[in-house]
Amino acid sequence: MKRTKVIDVFNCAELIGQQVCVKGWVRTRRGNKQVQFIALNDGSTIKNVQIVVDTEKIDADTLKDITTGSCLCAIGKLIESQGQGQSVEIQCESIEIYGLCPNDYPMQKKGQTFEYMRKHAHMRLRTNTFGAVFRIRHHMAMAIHTYFHEHGFFYFHTPLITASDCEGAGNMFQVTTKNLYDLKKDDQGKIIYDDDFFGQQTSLTVSGQLEGELGATALGAIYTFGPTFRAENSNTPRHLAEFWMIEPEVAFLDQEGLMDLEEDFIKYCVKWALDNCKDDLEFLNKMIDNTLIERLEGVLKETFMRLPYTKGIEILQNAIKNGVKFEFPCNWGDDLASEHERYLVEEHFKKPVIMTDYPSKIKAFYMKQNTDTPQGGSIGYQNTEAPEPTMQGTDVLFPQIGEIIGGSVREENYDKLLSEIERRNIPMKDMWWYLDTRKYGTCPHAGFGLGFERLILFVTGMANIRDVIPFPRTPNNAEF
Ligand code: 4AD
Ligand code: MG
Repeated sequence: MKRTKVIDVFNCAELIGQQVCVKGWVRTRRGNKQVQFIALNDGSTIKNVQIVVDTEKIDADTLKDITTGSCLCAIGKLIESQGQGQSVEIQCESIEIYGLCPNDYPMQKKGQTFEYMRKHAHMRLRTNTFGAVFRIRHHMAMAIHTYFHEHGFFYFHTPLITASDCEGAGNMFQVTTKNLYDLKKDDQGKIIYDDDFFGQQTSLTVSGQLEGELGATALGAIYTFGPTFRAENSNTPRHLAEFWMIEPEVAFLDQEGLMDLEEDFIKYCVKWALDNCKDDLEFLNKMIDNTLIERLEGVLKETFMRLPYTKGIEILQNAIKNGVKFEFPCNWGDDLASEHERYLVEEHFKKPVIMTDYPSKIKAFYMKQNTDTPQGGSIGYQNTEAPEPTMQGTDVLFPQIGEIIGGSVREENYDKLLSEIERRNIPMKDMWWYLDTRKYGTCPHAGFGLGFERLILFVTGMANIRDVIPFPRTPNNAEF
Protein backbone atom coordinates (compact mmCIF):
# COMPACT_ATOMS: atom_id res chain seq x y z
CA MET A 1 0.00 0.00 0.00
CA LYS A 2 1.23 3.49 -0.85
CA ARG A 3 2.72 5.42 2.05
CA THR A 4 1.15 8.69 3.23
CA LYS A 5 3.46 11.22 4.87
CA VAL A 6 2.40 12.33 8.33
CA ILE A 7 2.20 15.94 7.18
CA ASP A 8 -0.37 14.92 4.55
CA VAL A 9 -2.37 12.97 7.09
CA PHE A 10 -2.95 16.33 8.81
CA ASN A 11 -3.36 18.44 5.71
CA CYS A 12 -5.49 16.39 3.31
CA ALA A 13 -9.12 16.51 4.42
CA GLU A 14 -10.07 14.02 1.69
CA LEU A 15 -8.08 11.28 3.46
CA ILE A 16 -10.50 11.26 6.39
CA GLY A 17 -12.45 8.02 6.41
CA GLN A 18 -9.86 6.36 4.13
CA GLN A 19 -7.33 3.65 4.81
CA VAL A 20 -3.85 5.13 5.15
CA CYS A 21 -0.40 3.67 5.55
CA VAL A 22 2.08 5.69 7.61
CA LYS A 23 5.72 4.93 8.33
CA GLY A 24 7.94 6.51 10.92
CA TRP A 25 9.64 6.43 14.29
CA VAL A 26 7.84 6.00 17.57
CA ARG A 27 7.98 9.02 19.85
CA THR A 28 5.95 7.48 22.68
CA ARG A 29 3.70 4.53 23.42
CA ARG A 30 1.23 4.62 26.30
CA GLY A 31 -2.17 3.22 27.23
CA ASN A 32 -3.75 0.31 29.06
CA LYS A 33 -4.70 -3.31 28.56
CA GLN A 34 -7.52 -2.55 26.12
CA VAL A 35 -6.09 0.27 24.08
CA GLN A 36 -2.62 1.57 23.29
CA PHE A 37 -1.63 4.93 21.74
CA ILE A 38 1.47 5.24 19.62
CA ALA A 39 2.72 8.70 18.65
CA LEU A 40 4.48 8.33 15.31
CA ASN A 41 6.72 10.90 13.61
CA ASP A 42 8.29 10.64 10.16
CA GLY A 43 10.20 13.92 10.07
CA SER A 44 7.87 15.55 7.55
CA THR A 45 6.37 17.73 10.30
CA ILE A 46 6.81 18.47 13.98
CA LYS A 47 3.41 16.83 14.55
CA ASN A 48 3.06 13.18 15.53
CA VAL A 49 0.16 11.16 14.27
CA GLN A 50 -1.62 9.17 16.92
CA ILE A 51 -2.14 5.49 16.18
CA VAL A 52 -4.85 3.95 18.28
CA VAL A 53 -4.33 0.24 18.78
CA ASP A 54 -7.05 -2.09 20.00
CA THR A 55 -5.01 -4.68 21.90
CA GLU A 56 -7.30 -7.46 20.73
CA LYS A 57 -6.27 -6.81 17.13
CA ILE A 58 -2.49 -6.70 17.59
CA ASP A 59 -0.45 -9.37 19.26
CA ALA A 60 0.61 -8.32 22.80
CA ASP A 61 4.24 -9.36 22.32
CA THR A 62 4.57 -7.22 19.20
CA LEU A 63 3.16 -4.24 21.06
CA LYS A 64 5.33 -4.72 24.12
CA ASP A 65 8.49 -4.44 22.05
CA ILE A 66 7.53 -1.10 20.51
CA THR A 67 9.53 1.45 22.49
CA THR A 68 10.57 5.04 21.82
CA GLY A 69 12.73 5.18 18.70
CA SER A 70 11.37 2.02 17.07
CA CYS A 71 10.59 2.24 13.37
CA LEU A 72 7.35 0.85 12.00
CA CYS A 73 4.64 0.90 9.41
CA ALA A 74 1.01 1.21 10.50
CA ILE A 75 -2.10 0.77 8.39
CA GLY A 76 -5.56 1.84 9.44
CA LYS A 77 -8.50 4.13 8.95
CA LEU A 78 -7.94 7.86 9.38
CA ILE A 79 -10.66 9.39 11.53
CA GLU A 80 -11.31 12.69 13.22
CA SER A 81 -9.94 12.46 16.70
CA GLN A 82 -11.81 12.45 19.98
CA GLY A 83 -8.64 13.18 21.94
CA GLN A 84 -7.67 16.68 23.01
CA GLY A 85 -5.12 18.48 20.84
CA GLN A 86 -5.28 15.90 18.04
CA SER A 87 -7.17 16.65 14.86
CA VAL A 88 -7.00 13.15 13.38
CA GLU A 89 -5.91 9.69 14.44
CA ILE A 90 -5.48 6.31 12.86
CA GLN A 91 -7.50 3.31 13.97
CA CYS A 92 -4.83 0.71 13.60
CA GLU A 93 -5.50 -2.48 11.67
CA SER A 94 -1.96 -3.78 11.22
CA ILE A 95 1.57 -2.97 12.26
CA GLU A 96 4.81 -4.03 10.62
CA ILE A 97 7.96 -3.43 12.60
CA TYR A 98 11.01 -2.34 10.62
CA GLY A 99 13.40 -1.85 13.50
CA LEU A 100 13.09 -2.17 17.24
CA CYS A 101 15.03 0.19 19.46
CA PRO A 102 16.89 -1.21 22.46
CA ASN A 103 16.74 0.86 25.61
CA ASP A 104 20.28 2.18 25.31
CA TYR A 105 18.95 4.46 22.51
CA PRO A 106 20.75 7.74 23.25
CA MET A 107 17.70 9.90 22.55
CA GLN A 108 15.32 7.87 24.68
CA LYS A 109 15.16 10.23 27.64
CA LYS A 110 13.46 13.57 27.32
CA GLY A 111 15.11 16.78 28.51
CA GLN A 112 18.73 15.92 27.72
CA THR A 113 21.10 18.90 27.50
CA PHE A 114 22.19 20.20 24.09
CA GLU A 115 25.74 19.38 25.05
CA TYR A 116 24.78 15.73 25.55
CA MET A 117 22.94 15.72 22.24
CA ARG A 118 25.97 17.12 20.40
CA LYS A 119 27.89 14.03 21.43
CA HIS A 120 25.15 12.02 19.73
CA ALA A 121 24.74 14.31 16.73
CA HIS A 122 24.00 11.32 14.50
CA MET A 123 20.87 10.53 16.54
CA ARG A 124 19.81 14.00 17.71
CA LEU A 125 18.31 14.60 14.25
CA ARG A 126 15.40 12.40 15.34
CA THR A 127 14.37 14.65 18.21
CA ASN A 128 11.61 17.26 17.97
CA THR A 129 13.94 20.22 18.43
CA PHE A 130 16.47 19.19 15.82
CA GLY A 131 13.74 18.15 13.41
CA ALA A 132 12.30 21.65 13.70
CA VAL A 133 15.70 23.33 13.34
CA PHE A 134 16.67 21.40 10.23
CA ARG A 135 13.32 21.79 8.53
CA ILE A 136 13.67 25.55 9.10
CA ARG A 137 17.24 25.40 7.80
CA HIS A 138 15.94 23.85 4.59
CA HIS A 139 13.27 26.53 4.25
CA MET A 140 15.83 29.28 4.72
CA ALA A 141 17.94 27.83 1.90
CA MET A 142 14.84 27.87 -0.32
CA ALA A 143 14.09 31.46 0.73
CA ILE A 144 17.60 32.54 -0.20
CA HIS A 145 17.58 30.94 -3.63
CA THR A 146 14.09 32.27 -4.31
CA TYR A 147 14.97 35.80 -3.24
CA PHE A 148 17.99 36.06 -5.48
CA HIS A 149 16.36 34.29 -8.39
CA GLU A 150 13.37 36.62 -8.23
CA HIS A 151 15.66 39.65 -8.05
CA GLY A 152 17.69 38.72 -11.12
CA PHE A 153 20.83 37.38 -9.42
CA PHE A 154 22.63 34.38 -10.92
CA TYR A 155 23.70 31.51 -8.68
CA PHE A 156 27.46 31.43 -9.20
CA HIS A 157 29.73 28.61 -8.07
CA THR A 158 33.08 29.69 -6.71
CA PRO A 159 35.87 27.21 -5.92
CA LEU A 160 36.35 25.64 -2.52
CA ILE A 161 40.03 25.00 -3.12
CA THR A 162 41.92 28.22 -3.61
CA ALA A 163 45.40 29.71 -3.66
CA SER A 164 44.36 33.11 -2.24
CA ASP A 165 43.28 34.25 1.20
CA CYS A 166 40.26 36.49 0.58
CA GLU A 167 39.92 37.96 4.02
CA GLY A 168 43.69 38.17 4.45
CA ALA A 169 43.35 36.82 7.95
CA GLY A 170 45.46 33.74 7.33
CA ASN A 171 43.07 31.36 9.08
CA MET A 172 43.15 28.78 6.31
CA PHE A 173 43.12 24.99 6.21
CA GLN A 174 45.78 23.76 3.85
CA VAL A 175 44.99 21.29 1.06
CA THR A 176 47.84 19.01 0.08
CA THR A 177 48.66 15.51 -1.11
CA LYS A 178 52.24 15.85 0.08
CA ASN A 179 53.78 13.41 2.48
CA LEU A 180 54.01 15.59 5.56
CA TYR A 181 56.86 13.49 6.97
CA ASP A 182 59.07 14.09 3.98
CA LEU A 183 58.63 17.65 2.73
CA LYS A 184 60.83 19.11 0.02
CA LYS A 185 62.37 22.39 1.20
CA ASP A 186 64.52 25.12 -0.34
CA ASP A 187 67.85 26.49 1.02
CA GLN A 188 65.99 28.68 3.51
CA GLY A 189 63.97 25.74 4.80
CA LYS A 190 60.75 26.91 3.11
CA ILE A 191 58.49 24.17 1.76
CA ILE A 192 58.51 23.81 -2.04
CA TYR A 193 55.08 23.16 -3.45
CA ASP A 194 55.90 22.68 -7.12
CA ASP A 195 55.57 18.91 -6.76
CA ASP A 196 52.29 19.19 -4.80
CA PHE A 197 48.98 18.35 -6.51
CA PHE A 198 48.25 21.89 -7.69
CA GLY A 199 51.88 22.90 -8.06
CA GLN A 200 51.40 25.64 -5.50
CA GLN A 201 50.24 26.07 -1.93
CA THR A 202 46.46 25.72 -1.71
CA SER A 203 43.81 25.95 0.99
CA LEU A 204 40.09 25.65 1.61
CA THR A 205 38.39 28.94 0.88
CA VAL A 206 37.42 31.40 3.63
CA SER A 207 35.09 33.25 1.23
CA GLY A 208 34.01 33.10 -2.39
CA GLN A 209 33.97 36.87 -2.69
CA LEU A 210 36.99 37.48 -4.89
CA GLU A 211 35.79 35.05 -7.54
CA GLY A 212 32.26 36.35 -6.90
CA GLU A 213 33.46 39.78 -7.98
CA LEU A 214 34.65 38.26 -11.26
CA GLY A 215 31.12 36.94 -11.74
CA ALA A 216 29.41 40.20 -10.81
CA THR A 217 31.55 42.29 -13.10
CA ALA A 218 30.43 40.08 -15.98
CA LEU A 219 26.90 38.92 -15.16
CA GLY A 220 25.85 42.04 -13.25
CA ALA A 221 24.55 40.40 -10.12
CA ILE A 222 25.50 37.01 -8.69
CA TYR A 223 25.29 35.19 -5.40
CA THR A 224 27.19 32.26 -3.98
CA PHE A 225 25.84 29.82 -1.43
CA GLY A 226 28.32 27.29 -0.23
CA PRO A 227 30.59 26.06 2.52
CA THR A 228 33.50 28.16 3.74
CA PHE A 229 36.26 27.20 6.13
CA ARG A 230 38.08 29.11 8.83
CA ALA A 231 40.82 27.71 11.01
CA GLU A 232 40.30 30.34 13.70
CA ASN A 233 40.54 28.90 17.14
CA SER A 234 37.32 30.54 18.31
CA ASN A 235 35.46 28.38 20.75
CA THR A 236 32.34 30.51 20.90
CA PRO A 237 28.62 29.87 20.41
CA ARG A 238 28.85 31.84 17.15
CA HIS A 239 31.88 30.37 15.35
CA LEU A 240 32.31 27.24 13.27
CA ALA A 241 35.38 26.02 11.40
CA GLU A 242 33.09 25.00 8.53
CA PHE A 243 30.08 27.19 7.89
CA TRP A 244 27.87 28.10 4.96
CA MET A 245 27.96 31.57 3.52
CA ILE A 246 25.74 33.45 1.09
CA GLU A 247 27.63 36.11 -0.83
CA PRO A 248 25.78 38.36 -3.26
CA GLU A 249 27.91 40.67 -5.36
CA VAL A 250 26.43 43.42 -7.52
CA ALA A 251 27.82 45.70 -10.20
CA PHE A 252 26.90 49.41 -10.02
CA LEU A 253 25.73 49.19 -6.42
CA ASP A 254 26.70 51.90 -3.93
CA GLN A 255 26.74 51.90 -0.13
CA GLU A 256 23.16 53.06 0.19
CA GLY A 257 21.96 50.42 -2.25
CA LEU A 258 24.00 47.76 -0.48
CA MET A 259 22.35 48.54 2.85
CA ASP A 260 18.92 48.46 1.21
CA LEU A 261 19.75 45.03 -0.22
CA GLU A 262 21.00 43.68 3.12
CA GLU A 263 17.90 44.84 4.95
CA ASP A 264 15.41 43.73 2.30
CA PHE A 265 17.06 40.32 1.97
CA ILE A 266 17.10 39.53 5.70
CA LYS A 267 13.51 40.65 6.10
CA TYR A 268 12.47 38.46 3.18
CA CYS A 269 14.10 35.43 4.85
CA VAL A 270 12.50 36.15 8.21
CA LYS A 271 9.10 36.61 6.60
CA TRP A 272 9.56 33.36 4.68
CA ALA A 273 10.14 31.57 7.98
CA LEU A 274 7.01 33.08 9.52
CA ASP A 275 4.98 32.17 6.43
CA ASN A 276 6.35 28.65 5.85
CA CYS A 277 7.56 27.27 9.18
CA LYS A 278 4.66 28.10 11.48
CA ASP A 279 4.40 24.76 13.31
CA ASP A 280 8.13 24.46 13.88
CA LEU A 281 8.42 28.07 15.04
CA GLU A 282 5.53 27.62 17.45
CA PHE A 283 7.23 24.54 18.83
CA LEU A 284 10.55 26.38 19.29
CA ASN A 285 8.75 29.39 20.74
CA LYS A 286 7.24 27.10 23.36
CA MET A 287 10.27 24.95 24.10
CA ILE A 288 13.36 27.10 23.44
CA ASP A 289 12.62 30.79 23.57
CA ASN A 290 9.20 32.26 24.24
CA THR A 291 10.06 35.60 22.65
CA LEU A 292 11.10 34.03 19.35
CA ILE A 293 8.06 34.74 17.19
CA GLU A 294 7.65 38.20 18.67
CA ARG A 295 11.30 38.94 17.85
CA LEU A 296 10.94 37.71 14.27
CA GLU A 297 7.82 39.81 13.75
CA GLY A 298 9.61 42.74 15.38
CA VAL A 299 12.43 42.64 12.83
CA LEU A 300 9.94 42.95 9.98
CA LYS A 301 8.47 46.11 11.47
CA GLU A 302 11.76 47.85 12.26
CA THR A 303 13.77 50.02 9.96
CA PHE A 304 17.36 49.01 10.65
CA MET A 305 19.49 51.72 12.27
CA ARG A 306 22.29 52.89 9.98
CA LEU A 307 25.19 53.90 12.15
CA PRO A 308 28.72 55.03 11.31
CA TYR A 309 31.38 53.26 13.37
CA THR A 310 32.66 56.53 14.84
CA LYS A 311 29.21 57.37 16.16
CA GLY A 312 28.95 53.83 17.56
CA ILE A 313 32.20 54.25 19.46
CA GLU A 314 30.87 57.53 20.86
CA ILE A 315 27.73 55.80 22.14
CA LEU A 316 29.77 52.98 23.69
CA GLN A 317 32.13 55.40 25.39
CA ASN A 318 29.21 57.35 26.79
CA ALA A 319 27.77 54.11 28.09
CA ILE A 320 31.06 53.37 29.86
CA LYS A 321 30.98 56.86 31.40
CA ASN A 322 27.50 56.03 32.66
CA GLY A 323 28.68 52.90 34.38
CA VAL A 324 28.21 50.16 31.76
CA LYS A 325 30.99 47.57 32.11
CA PHE A 326 32.56 45.81 29.10
CA GLU A 327 35.20 43.12 29.19
CA PHE A 328 37.08 44.49 26.15
CA PRO A 329 38.21 48.08 25.43
CA CYS A 330 36.46 50.10 22.74
CA ASN A 331 38.53 53.01 21.59
CA TRP A 332 38.40 54.40 18.06
CA GLY A 333 40.25 51.90 15.90
CA ASP A 334 39.35 48.82 17.95
CA ASP A 335 37.38 46.03 16.37
CA LEU A 336 34.06 45.82 18.19
CA ALA A 337 33.61 42.78 20.39
CA SER A 338 30.36 40.89 20.44
CA GLU A 339 29.43 42.54 23.77
CA HIS A 340 29.73 45.99 22.16
CA GLU A 341 27.65 45.00 19.15
CA ARG A 342 25.00 43.53 21.39
CA TYR A 343 24.93 46.60 23.62
CA LEU A 344 24.23 48.83 20.62
CA VAL A 345 21.58 46.51 19.22
CA GLU A 346 19.88 45.18 22.34
CA GLU A 347 20.26 48.02 24.85
CA HIS A 348 20.76 51.24 22.97
CA PHE A 349 18.79 51.06 19.72
CA LYS A 350 16.72 47.96 20.46
CA LYS A 351 16.72 47.05 16.79
CA PRO A 352 19.14 45.75 14.13
CA VAL A 353 21.99 48.08 13.30
CA ILE A 354 23.89 48.42 10.05
CA MET A 355 27.30 49.70 11.03
CA THR A 356 29.22 51.59 8.38
CA ASP A 357 32.45 53.44 7.72
CA TYR A 358 34.89 51.43 9.77
CA PRO A 359 38.55 52.34 10.22
CA SER A 360 40.51 50.91 7.30
CA LYS A 361 42.98 49.13 9.49
CA ILE A 362 40.46 46.73 11.03
CA LYS A 363 38.86 45.73 7.74
CA ALA A 364 39.87 43.81 4.63
CA PHE A 365 42.02 45.24 1.83
CA TYR A 366 39.26 45.26 -0.80
CA MET A 367 36.94 47.76 0.90
CA LYS A 368 36.48 51.15 -0.70
CA GLN A 369 38.10 54.00 1.17
CA ASN A 370 36.10 57.09 2.04
CA THR A 371 38.02 59.85 0.34
CA ASP A 372 35.35 62.38 -0.64
CA THR A 373 33.82 62.33 2.79
CA PRO A 374 36.55 61.17 5.16
CA GLN A 375 34.69 62.56 8.13
CA GLY A 376 31.85 60.19 8.31
CA GLY A 377 31.55 58.31 5.11
CA SER A 378 28.92 58.48 2.50
CA ILE A 379 25.88 58.43 4.72
CA GLY A 380 26.41 61.95 5.93
CA TYR A 381 27.31 61.65 9.59
CA GLN A 382 29.66 64.53 10.33
CA ASN A 383 32.35 63.17 12.54
CA THR A 384 35.25 65.38 13.42
CA GLU A 385 37.09 62.75 15.37
CA ALA A 386 37.85 60.02 12.84
CA PRO A 387 41.62 60.19 13.05
CA GLU A 388 42.36 57.80 10.23
CA PRO A 389 40.85 56.75 6.92
CA THR A 390 37.55 54.92 7.03
CA MET A 391 36.02 52.42 4.61
CA GLN A 392 32.61 51.80 3.15
CA GLY A 393 31.90 48.64 5.10
CA THR A 394 28.33 47.77 6.04
CA ASP A 395 28.06 45.09 8.71
CA VAL A 396 24.61 44.11 9.96
CA LEU A 397 24.42 43.55 13.71
CA PHE A 398 21.53 41.57 15.12
CA PRO A 399 20.03 41.03 18.55
CA GLN A 400 21.30 37.85 20.22
CA ILE A 401 23.73 37.21 17.36
CA GLY A 402 25.99 40.22 16.90
CA GLU A 403 27.42 40.33 13.36
CA ILE A 404 25.18 38.45 10.97
CA ILE A 405 26.37 40.12 7.73
CA GLY A 406 29.75 41.52 6.72
CA GLY A 407 29.69 43.60 3.57
CA SER A 408 31.24 46.54 1.77
CA VAL A 409 31.55 48.62 -1.33
CA ARG A 410 34.66 47.38 -3.16
CA GLU A 411 37.62 49.53 -4.10
CA GLU A 412 37.33 49.74 -7.88
CA ASN A 413 40.28 52.05 -8.49
CA TYR A 414 43.29 50.04 -9.74
CA ASP A 415 45.99 52.22 -8.19
CA LYS A 416 44.32 52.52 -4.82
CA LEU A 417 43.65 48.80 -4.63
CA LEU A 418 47.20 47.97 -5.67
CA SER A 419 48.70 50.28 -3.08
CA GLU A 420 46.50 48.73 -0.37
CA ILE A 421 47.60 45.23 -1.46
CA GLU A 422 51.23 46.33 -1.30
CA ARG A 423 50.79 48.12 2.01
CA ARG A 424 49.47 44.90 3.52
CA ASN A 425 52.16 42.71 1.94
CA ILE A 426 49.59 40.55 0.19
CA PRO A 427 51.52 38.42 -2.33
CA MET A 428 50.91 39.77 -5.83
CA LYS A 429 51.20 36.33 -7.39
CA ASP A 430 47.82 35.53 -5.79
CA MET A 431 46.15 38.75 -6.86
CA TRP A 432 46.91 39.46 -10.52
CA TRP A 433 43.59 38.12 -11.77
CA TYR A 434 41.65 40.06 -9.14
CA LEU A 435 43.45 43.26 -10.12
CA ASP A 436 42.54 42.62 -13.75
CA THR A 437 38.90 43.42 -12.91
CA ARG A 438 40.10 46.94 -12.05
CA LYS A 439 42.44 47.12 -15.02
CA TYR A 440 39.93 46.16 -17.70
CA GLY A 441 36.63 48.02 -17.61
CA THR A 442 36.48 48.52 -13.88
CA CYS A 443 33.10 49.29 -12.36
CA PRO A 444 31.76 50.35 -8.99
CA HIS A 445 30.37 47.33 -7.17
CA ALA A 446 29.48 46.05 -3.73
CA GLY A 447 28.48 42.88 -1.93
CA PHE A 448 28.14 41.14 1.37
CA GLY A 449 28.44 37.79 3.11
CA LEU A 450 25.71 36.39 5.33
CA GLY A 451 26.68 33.60 7.72
CA PHE A 452 23.95 31.03 7.07
CA GLU A 453 24.17 29.46 10.53
CA ARG A 454 23.95 32.86 12.19
CA LEU A 455 20.72 33.48 10.30
CA ILE A 456 19.46 30.08 11.45
CA LEU A 457 20.41 30.93 15.03
CA PHE A 458 18.29 34.03 14.82
CA VAL A 459 15.34 32.40 13.15
CA THR A 460 15.23 29.37 15.46
CA GLY A 461 16.13 31.05 18.75
CA MET A 462 18.79 28.39 19.36
CA ALA A 463 21.67 29.63 21.48
CA ASN A 464 24.64 27.70 20.09
CA ILE A 465 25.77 27.61 16.47
CA ARG A 466 26.74 23.95 16.90
CA ASP A 467 23.04 23.18 17.18
CA VAL A 468 21.92 24.67 13.86
CA ILE A 469 24.22 22.70 11.52
CA PRO A 470 23.77 18.92 11.42
CA PHE A 471 27.42 18.01 12.00
CA PRO A 472 29.40 20.93 13.42
CA ARG A 473 33.12 21.33 12.83
CA THR A 474 34.87 23.17 15.65
CA PRO A 475 38.33 23.03 17.25
CA ASN A 476 38.95 19.45 18.40
CA ASN A 477 35.74 18.19 16.89
CA ALA A 478 35.22 16.59 13.50
CA GLU A 479 33.18 13.57 14.60
CA PHE A 480 30.51 12.13 12.29
O1 4AD B 1 32.62 39.26 7.81
P1 4AD B 1 33.15 38.12 6.99
O2 4AD B 1 34.48 37.58 7.35
O3 4AD B 1 33.11 38.65 5.50
C1 4AD B 1 33.56 37.99 4.40
O4 4AD B 1 33.99 36.86 4.37
C2 4AD B 1 33.36 38.77 3.14
N1 4AD B 1 34.24 38.19 2.12
C3 4AD B 1 31.91 38.71 2.77
C4 4AD B 1 31.60 39.50 1.52
O5 4AD B 1 31.63 40.71 1.57
N2 4AD B 1 31.30 38.84 0.43
O6 4AD B 1 32.10 36.93 7.02
C5 4AD B 1 30.77 37.13 6.60
C6 4AD B 1 29.81 36.53 7.58
C7 4AD B 1 29.88 37.12 8.98
O7 4AD B 1 29.14 38.30 9.07
C8 4AD B 1 29.27 36.01 9.81
O8 4AD B 1 27.86 36.04 9.74
C9 4AD B 1 29.75 34.77 9.08
O9 4AD B 1 30.09 35.15 7.76
N3 4AD B 1 30.93 34.17 9.71
C10 4AD B 1 30.91 33.03 10.43
N4 4AD B 1 29.89 32.21 10.75
C11 4AD B 1 30.19 31.12 11.48
N5 4AD B 1 31.44 30.80 11.90
C12 4AD B 1 32.50 31.59 11.60
N6 4AD B 1 33.72 31.26 11.98
C13 4AD B 1 32.25 32.78 10.82
N7 4AD B 1 33.02 33.76 10.34
C14 4AD B 1 32.21 34.59 9.66
MG1 MG C 1 33.12 40.41 9.38
